Order: sequence, then C-alpha cells, then structure tokens
Amino acid sequence: MILVTGATGTVGRALVDRLTALGAPVRATTRRPERAELPVGVEVVRADLGEPDSLAPALRGVRKVFLLADGPDLPRHDANLARAAARAGVEAVVKLSSGRVADPTAADPVACWHRAGERAVLDAGLAWTFLRPMGFMSNTLAWAGPIRATGTVGAPFAAGRVSVIDPADLAAVAALALTEAGHEGRAHLLTGPQALSPGELVATLAEVLGLPLTFTEVPPSVAREALLGHGLSPEMADAVMALRAASLEPFAATVTPEVERLTGRPATAFRAWVERHREEFGRG
Ligand SMILES: NC(=O)c1ccc[n+]([C@@H]2O[C@H](COP(=O)([O-])OP(=O)(O)OC[C@H]3O[C@@H](n4cnc5c(N)ncnc54)[C@H](OP(=O)(O)O)[C@@H]3O)[C@@H](O)[C@H]2O)c1
Repeated sequence: MILVTGATGTVGRALVDRLTALGAPVRATTRRPERAELPVGVEVVRADLGEPDSLAPALRGVRKVFLLADGPDLPRHDANLARAAARAGVEAVVKLSSGRVADPTAADPVACWHRAGERAVLDAGLAWTFLRPMGFMSNTLAWAGPIRATGTVGAPFAAGRVSVIDPADLAAVAALALTEAGHEGRAHLLTGPQALSPGELVATLAEVLGLPLTFTEVPPSVAREALLGHGLSPEMADAVMALRAASLEPFAATVTPEVERLTGRPATAFRAWVERHREEFGRG
C-alpha cells in the first residue's frame, strides 16, 4: 500500500491518478474526506499532519509514503509523519521538498522549512527520496482572474527567471520513486526545460490563449499586499515574497535533465502546459 498525503492538492492529486493508472494500491489522506473527490478505488482516510494520533491508522499496512506538507508548520508536520511512519514499519518516504534546498546559499523561509523537513525524515531512520522542484507552472493560474478581468498581469521582479516545472512531471517522477527500486538515498533537483521571466510567461499565455495580454511589473510591497488580500498570513506572504525575490538569483534559472532521465520523456514546456489548461483561463 502507498500512502499519499496532500492527495487533494496540485501534485498529490496528479500523483494519485498516476499511481491508480499503474495499478498500485493507494490510500489518500485529506482533512475533509467528504470533499475530497478522489477516484474510485482509492482508499480515502482522514488525517492531519498536525495531529499525530490521526497518522497511525492511516499508516497501517503502508510500505511507502508520499509526504507533502506546506507552510510554517512544515518542519513539525514532516517530523510527525516521519516518526509515525518509522513506528509503523514504513520502508521509504518520498518527500516533496523544494529546489530552494539545493541552493546552499538559500536562507529564505521555504528553504529553511524544507531543510528541517528533510532532516526529520533522515533522523527517523527511514529510506528516503527527496524531490526538489523549482516553481510550478500552475502558479500562473493565480493570473486567471486578472486575465479574464483586465488582460493585464502584474508581478514583481520582472528580471527574475525560473525554470518552472509542470506539476504532472513532478507527479510522474514521484510515481516512479514510489513504485520502482533504486530511488532511495537520492535527492532530485527537478526543473522544466527552460527558465522564463514573468513577462515571458505572460507572452506565452497570450499566444496560446489568443489574447492581447499585457505584463506590468509591480513593486514587491504591492505584490505582498495582494497576497494578504488573498488570505495568506503575514508569515506565508513573506515566505512567498522571499521565493519571488530569489527568482533574481542565477540558481533559479538552473535547468536539469532529471525529468527526462527519470521518466524517459522530455520535461513539459510551458506552452504545452498552457494548452492543457486553457479552460482554467476561461478559453476552453
Ligand atoms: N508552488 C510552487 O511553485 C512550489 C515549488 C516547489 C515546491 N513546492 C512545494 O510543494 C508543496 C505544495 O504542493 P501543492 O501545490 O501540490 O499543494 P496544494 O495544492 O497547496 O495542496 C496542499 C495539500 O496539503 C493538504 N494539507 C494541508 N494542510 C494539511 C494538514 N495539516 N495535514 C494534512 N494535509 C494537509 C491539503 O489537503 P486537505 O485540504 O484535503 O486536507 C492539500 O491536499 C509545498 O511543500 C511547497 O513548498 C511548491
């Protein structure tokens, strides 16, 4: 049995679909099973990474775990899962980490949270695989509202370039790490095929969606206010802004061959990702 945490989110849901397509037995966790809408055949259990007592039942009979946590509680949540998994006799954990961890100079909150999470998995004595992706292509879905409303997309740090990755490629790598031997003790820095600036992302969206979109650089303070307006806590907004600022560093533009080496297929280009997600931008 494979346990997938974060199964209702962007990466976890794509992973559940891949594992079920491979015929692997999957148990998925969510804090709200009644809202989960997971595929038939998937065993859905209620678990909260912040409630250690909820983890033991979810881990019963599990061989491998996909571990996904987020936010300021991430170190504690990863540690809760890692300890419970070790107690339950789990063989291996595949942790969704962050590309920021692979930059030795990175000291932003997300890098620190994930470094602590990786350490917790190591300390629990479990076999491990760490997936360290760069920014997700799906983050651009946050622009769907402004694209519909005004045709103008605002973002800070216009000169920043990130080798954005398709979360489905990440899920494909995770599925392999959970179903094949030979991934233990490896940390994969996972990227898309090309580093793109926010203006280049918007230009591709305009071309594929067939819309006259405009990109405008906004000051970081305005971008931070917008995050708070969307309900992020000040701590989370600061973490996101630090990530965005890191797009100006050369490391963010690193392109690795890992997706193709591991899956046998080239990493998805941003253009192809947009074509698959036209509907979510209102252009179905
Ligand atoms: N976005 C990026 O550009 C990027 C880049 C690199 C790395 N990452 C990493 O990717 C991860 C986020 O992945 P994602 O975008 O797929 O996540 P997501 O779509 O935001 O989904 C979050 C998932 O976590 C679950 N969750 C939230 N709180 C929980 C708790 N207390 N206990 C158990 N489950 C909980 C949610 O499930 P329920 O609500 O159903 O319980 C949901 O399935 C983070 O670790 C982030 O650092 C993101």
